[in-house]
Amino acid sequence: MDYKVKNMRICIEKDYSEMSKKAAEVFACVMKETPSGVFGFATGGTPVGLYKELIDMNKNNTLDFSEATTFNLDEYFPIKASNNQSYRYFMEENLFNHINIKKEKINIPNGEADDINEECKSYENRITQSGGIDLQILGIGMNGHIGFNEPTDHFPKDTHGVELQQSTIEANARFFDSIDEVPKTAVTMGIKSIMSAKSILLVVNGAKKAGIVKEMLFGNITPQVPASILQLHPNVVVILDEEAAEQIKELL
Ligand code: PGA
Repeated sequence: MDYKVKNMRICIEKDYSEMSKKAAEVFACVMKETPSGVFGFATGGTPVGLYKELIDMNKNNTLDFSEATTFNLDEYFPIKASNNQSYRYFMEENLFNHINIKKEKINIPNGEADDINEECKSYENRITQSGGIDLQILGIGMNGHIGFNEPTDHFPKDTHGVELQQSTIEANARFFDSIDEVPKTAVTMGIKSIMSAKSILLVVNGAKKAGIVKEMLFGNITPQVPASILQLHPNVVVILDEEAAEQIKELL
């Protein structure tokens, strides 16, 4: 079912698999209109199903990545690209190695850069020089973060270095052998970088995200819930599974 909340289109799908299929449809629609467009990707568990769908579409020749440019939201810092916990590694494993994307058109913050501030500036410049992101995929953290923009007292604008909150470190520990191995700092696109995307596709699944989904869509717009800023974006599609939509159903 599709709903409208403020400017946002909300789609509620039966389960994770249907959420992923719907997200792939929305993505493919934009990519077919702008094959040489700029696409923003996210890491995390949520978009993996969406990426599988995109791989299938690419293999079936129904979706062509050959002209596309990509920017990822974030990367741990410091981290080697070859580390199997880096977001570059994640993207290669879960998407890029399986589609006909040109390697030189892939942009991910460099976790091995000598100077984090220079890397942030250069990344932001590259986004601007590309003409800006046509479609940005997002997940949402349990604390309302988008990218690694953690709850704080202001909306950070550009790509910047960030200290991860304990709740994010704990949430990400599932991907590591021990919580001590989770990096404590990262580079992330800022809120302005994300909000400048022409369209945004947010995917959320699972009952544990139901509370933050309600806050993001119906709560105050506040940097304490970074994703709440999406209420101000003119072109957002939010795709939820039934569980993630549990607390908003009566409000739609
Ligand atoms: P998840 O992460 O998809 O693994 O839940 C989302 C996020 O932290 O942005």
